[in-house]
Amino acid sequence: MPDLFEDVARRWKDRSGRRAAGRIDDGAVRAAYARWAPVYDRVFGAALDAGRRAAVATINALPAGRVLECGVGTGLSLAAYRRDHRITGIDLSPDMLDVARRRVSEGALDHVEALEEADAGDLSFETGRFDASVAMFVMTVVPDPKAVMAELVRVTRPGGRVVIVSHFAADRGWRKWIEDAAAPFASALGWHSDFPIARILGRDELRLVEQRRVGPIGFFTLIVFERL
Ligand SMILES: C[S@@+](CC[C@H](N)C(=O)[O-])C[C@H]1O[C@@H](n2cnc3c(N)ncnc32)[C@H](O)[C@@H]1O
Repeated sequence: MPDLFEDVARRWKDRSGRRAAGRIDDGAVRAAYARWAPVYDRVFGAALDAGRRAAVATINALPAGRVLECGVGTGLSLAAYRRDHRITGIDLSPDMLDVARRRVSEGALDHVEALEEADAGDLSFETGRFDASVAMFVMTVVPDPKAVMAELVRVTRPGGRVVIVSHFAADRGWRKWIEDAAAPFASALGWHSDFPIARILGRDELRLVEQRRVGPIGFFTLIVFERL
């Protein structure tokens, strides 16, 4: 825990270099989340909950089906899915997955079919396997967001839903001010706080169904696509 605080404090002091510090690869993601896993729920549980609830509500409004949660982390959303959905979670971090597996067994979450270590940008699932796929607070963390979007599209069946919750960069105003203040925390999590929403919009295989701000101050955005 003190390590984490020191890391955030260091990034705070070095705010001018934060964009470079935010550049990450798979190894860096695993190392960062090995340190976050024991305290992740306490630090980011409630803080990100509004976004998770919005995404899961979107999934729960769909007919029962197979759902892929990419970057499932410690599994904070798993108990909230309707029990007639069948959930597969994947994550790059074995340490985050250990917490998720404990949560599934302690909570008897039988609707969770599998929790697997995998790279969201290079999935082994067959094309069109899932009725819906969801990524919550993942797109700004992954080394290659374009590859992740391509995989979410590939593994979701035509007519299915792709649901994203994320923070996207504000150009100006008070959101930009909060973004700058929170940048050392974001950077310690491996988040790209300057991630533009345009990077996930405009794909030919996806029709935008919904886009709205979520959470008490609308800091995060929920985006729902239909897979064409
Ligand atoms: C900020 S956490 C979000 C966790 C969870 N979705 C939540 O709502 O709390 C980001 C998660 O994405 C995972 N991740 C990062 N890069 C990934 C990748 N390429 N493939 C799969 N998971 C990845 C991290 O290990 C971490 O668990």
